[in-house]
Amino acid sequence: MAISQTSIIVKKETLNNSHFILWIRDEKLSEQSLPGQFFQLRSPRQDSSSLYKPISIFNNEKSCLGFMIKSLGKGTQSLSELDRGDKLEVIGPLGTSFPPCQVKNVVLISGGIGYAPLWYLSKKLKLENYVYWLHGGNSKPDVFPCDEIWTEDGSIGYQGLVTQGLETRCSEHPTDIIIACGSGPMLKAIQKIAKAHRIELIVSMEAYMACGIGACYGCAVPCGDTGNVYYKRVCKDGPVFNSNEICWELL
Ligand SMILES: Cc1cc2nc3c(=O)[nH]c(=O)nc-3n(C[C@H](O)[C@H](O)[C@H](O)COP(=O)(O)OP(=O)(O)OC[C@H]3O[C@@H](n4cnc5c(N)ncnc54)[C@H](O)[C@@H]3O)c2cc1C
Ligand code: FES
Repeated sequence: MAISQTSIIVKKETLNNSHFILWIRDEKLSEQSLPGQFFQLRSPRQDSSSLYKPISIFNNEKSCLGFMIKSLGKGTQSLSELDRGDKLEVIGPLGTSFPPCQVKNVVLISGGIGYAPLWYLSKKLKLENYVYWLHGGNSKPDVFPCDEIWTEDGSIGYQGLVTQGLETRCSEHPTDIIIACGSGPMLKAIQKIAKAHRIELIVSMEAYMACGIGACYGCAVPCGDTGNVYYKRVCKDGPVFNSNEICWELL
């Protein structure tokens, strides 16, 4: 059951010019929150007509929840101006979580801020699974610790698209499942690779959200196949989906 409340920021970590982590302490929210779920966040300094912004649970430890945020537009910039001791409006936890992983060889792949939900997941997985994590971004500020880094400008790691790394990984190492979070085009490319190698794929979808609670269908993604398309809401039915559910041709 999602909770709507005002929390206090107990810590702020600045990662670089555009990325930061806001921490709140709340035993109840921490207990309820699972990897893959997200919160709607808003700075109380914005007027009450401003939209809340969907932000994944990046970390959850010692009754504290961490949100890793990239400052992009008005909403996230406003969040970036908050500091320790400031109030933060939160609604959550929302959405679906990553399913339990019964298999051994897990590949995580993220693009840009798609890194955030996979951090909390990777912490849970490492106890039982062998995990290999590939991450890609435009440039150095978009990448964070993992097993294999790709940047489009080559400023750090391999130069190119992270999906090139995934193709090699799947060709050369046994892979039971791929879990991915990133932009639509990136997920589409990953789906093709997973299908070609017959590997199960779980995706966390990004979508532009309005209400965030399942009421407006602003975040709908096409599901089914081209002959029988129906829509699911990223905020309520997702953000985590089995790739078989998505109609990739229409995405
Ligand atoms: C389930 C989910 C989890 C997310 N988790 C995180 C997270 O952990 N950390 C984080 O920093 N961000 C996350 N995001 C993305 C974040 O919600 C958006 O960056 C934010 O809403 C942008 O709002 P804004 O007011 O700052 O910018 P806006 O002014 O609303 O947008 C700035 C620009 O970004 C584009 N844009 C905004 N949102 C999206 C989107 N979802 N997909 C593609 N383009 C978009 C807009 O079209 C515009 O061009 C998540 C999104 C979803 C759906
Ligand atoms: S954002 Fe309104 S239904 Fe998902």
